[in-house]
Amino acid sequence: MNEHVQTAASGPLFNHLSADFIHDPYPHYARLRATDPVHLTPFGTYVVSRHAEVSLVLRDKRFGKDFVERSKRRYGSQIMDESLFHNMAQTILQTDPPQHTRLRNLVVKAFTARRVEDMRPRIQQVVDQALDAIVDRGRMDLVADFAYRLPVTIICDMLGIPQEHREVFHTSSGDSVRILESVPLTPEETKQGNARVQMAQMYFQQLFDLRRRNPGDDLTTQLVQAEEDGNKLTNEELTANIMLLFIAGHETTINLIGNSLLALHRNPDQLSLLKANPSLIANAIDEFLRFEPSVQFTGRVALEDIDDLGGKKIPKGESVLCLLGSANRDPAVYPDRPDCLDITRKNIKPLSFGGGIHFCLGAQLARIEVEIAINTLLRRLPGLRIDDVENPEWRPNLVLRGPKRLPASW
Ligand code: HEM
Repeated sequence: MNEHVQTAASGPLFNHLSADFIHDPYPHYARLRATDPVHLTPFGTYVVSRHAEVSLVLRDKRFGKDFVERSKRRYGSQIMDESLFHNMAQTILQTDPPQHTRLRNLVVKAFTARRVEDMRPRIQQVVDQALDAIVDRGRMDLVADFAYRLPVTIICDMLGIPQEHREVFHTSSGDSVRILESVPLTPEETKQGNARVQMAQMYFQQLFDLRRRNPGDDLTTQLVQAEEDGNKLTNEELTANIMLLFIAGHETTINLIGNSLLALHRNPDQLSLLKANPSLIANAIDEFLRFEPSVQFTGRVALEDIDDLGGKKIPKGESVLCLLGSANRDPAVYPDRPDCLDITRKNIKPLSFGGGIHFCLGAQLARIEVEIAINTLLRRLPGLRIDDVENPEWRPNLVLRGPKRLPASW
């Protein structure tokens, strides 16, 4: 038994609500992988923790999102009358083929490698401006003052949100993704979520009208005009997917910047190595993604009876939670010190952007944003120190993992 299995040796196998789990889920993952890698929890979900099974579930057509039926089973059939759920059901993230294929084909064009590469100068400019604004202060919160602005600004650019409307988008709480958590929403949370969706719908309707009258070189204009095999997006699909892109395009990346900076400062040898060799950054980002992924779980439903998943039968209709953060540290795939950060590690294949048909559309964009953010920060503020690397306050969110704040000085 390894050290981590011993550390988390008591209590329920999967208690992701405990403070201990939020502080450091990895010993808990190690215990799951070693003792019950396809674990049926008391709340009726199968939790899958090894790389092999996580990878299989993400790619196998016998598993899907089944969002509408899953939500009805969980909350009752009236749940789809709630705007929050109705809206989420129209997103690329929560649909299955053929709707998923049609939606994804429309949006994917905005994320070609070429288009994303062309965004480098703008990303560099936004990072430099963020640092210019605080460089004389000697102190900042790396999350609020640095990590936050970049992805929000870039996704607003991509969506063509006019400058004068952006302030309202510059508040983030992570609440928008509560619906993706494994813990059911309370009626109050559903009500708050409905209100957020309705406000966003009102705003985006105005933006669509503006872009119809006044087209721009942006994704909203493209989608407003979109036609794929004669299949236009419905108005509801349009709003739902623009909202999804906005949320997916920033919450995740903010956390990855925070997690990467924290991981580097907890491992001073790796920090010095990267400072001395900035060209290691591409490999380092794969390692940051592997080591502390900002999306920890994603869910699927068995669309038919599954005879054997890691030795267990999964009946049709049952939910499966894929632990991406656990798969990324599976010693079967990373035999060499999986719990250590090593920016020179070879053959890193993190599952942090998912896999199969729902593989993250923004993966390349996120990599470039994090690459420029980290290398520029280390170059411009070489004396940067994080106040408390051991006990940062983590966001209370379970799907998205990242520090809430990271006070630092230089
Ligand atoms: C570090 C940053 C990011 C991480 C870790 C991340 C992670 C993920 C993961 C794990 C999935 C798959 C979910 C599933 O299988 O259920 C996903 C899907 C998605 N991501 Fe990202 N993401 C990041 C950044 C972005 C950005 C910058 C954008 C857009 C600008 C984006 C847009 C999307 C979209 C639209 C999907 C749904 C794709 C589909 O269902 O076909 N993501 N992301």
